Amino acid sequence: MILITGATGRVGGSAARYLLSSGHPVRALLREAGAAGELRALGMAVAEGDLGQPASITAALAGVDGALLVTPNGEQQLQLEQNFIEAAAAAGVRRVVKISSLEASAEATAPIPRMHYRAECLLQAEIGDWTVLRPNFYMQNLLMYAHPIAAHGVFALPFGSARVAPIDTRDVGEIAARVLSADGHAQHTYALTGPALLDFHEIARQMSDVLGREVRYIDQPPAEFRAFLAGIVPSAWQVDAVCALFAQIADHALERVSDDAHQLLGRPPRTLAEFVRDHAAAFAG
Ligand SMILES: NC(=O)c1ccc[n+]([C@@H]2O[C@H](COP(=O)([O-])OP(=O)(O)OC[C@H]3O[C@@H](n4cnc5c(N)ncnc54)[C@H](OP(=O)(O)O)[C@@H]3O)[C@@H](O)[C@H]2O)c1
Repeated sequence: MILITGATGRVGGSAARYLLSSGHPVRALLREAGAAGELRALGMAVAEGDLGQPASITAALAGVDGALLVTPNGEQQLQLEQNFIEAAAAAGVRRVVKISSLEASAEATAPIPRMHYRAECLLQAEIGDWTVLRPNFYMQNLLMYAHPIAAHGVFALPFGSARVAPIDTRDVGEIAARVLSADGHAQHTYALTGPALLDFHEIARQMSDVLGREVRYIDQPPAEFRAFLAGIVPSAWQVDAVCALFAQIADHALERVSDDAHQLLGRPPRTLAEFVRDHAAAFAG
């Protein structure tokens, strides 16, 4: 039995879908047992629980051999990951795959990649068969700008001319599922990137080509981005953490292409053009 966290989200949902379609028994730890109806219809079992409540994690882990750990960014992220890793170790779970981020390192200064790095270290200390997946920028982040792109043909971000190698979360989830269900990945850290390094002007140009109308990237001053974020995100911690992370990206932290995703998928990862084509309706409004 494989336990998936974050199954209502982007990476966990994709991992669960891939595992179910390839015949693996899957259980999801869900905060609301009635959520993820589409995956339950595919045969996914559910354990109601919360990563903030260790007893519920222990109950969800009964009979589990492998698990995927995906947690949302937030002030409690490291605590949630620690709860899960400790419960998995105590339950004797053999294999755990953790979603981290490409910026994670011992030197990371921004809180989110710093917490990922500390959770990676905990995982490596507690679980013998661990794998860490460090993705680059998710293509799906662009969906947060679907409305201004549809209405005005623009999106604004504070990344200057920095480049990223965006990866589709459908590919990240499929890779997590493949790693969970096959041997040969124990004690590996993989850098998951899309196929190409692109700055955000180039991303806008490729979106224009696929959508058949002009899309422009506006290089937003960091102070303006912070004010915008503070208007929609209630947590001051989250605003600071995202601004610190974005400053690292603007400082070229994600300018890396790796072949790991291609090797793990057995096919090239999706391109940005494929992603935009698949989501053309969202970008059309
Ligand atoms: N965005 C990027 O470009 C990027 C790049 C690299 C790495 N990452 C990493 O990717 C991770 C996020 O992955 P994602 O985008 O797939 O996540 P997501 O779509 O935001 O989904 C988060 C999931 O976590 C669940 N969750 C939240 N709080 C929970 C709790 N207390 N107990 C149990 N489950 C809980 C949510 O369930 P509910 O339905 O109950 O809310 C949801 O299923 C982060 O760790 C981030 O650092 C992101």
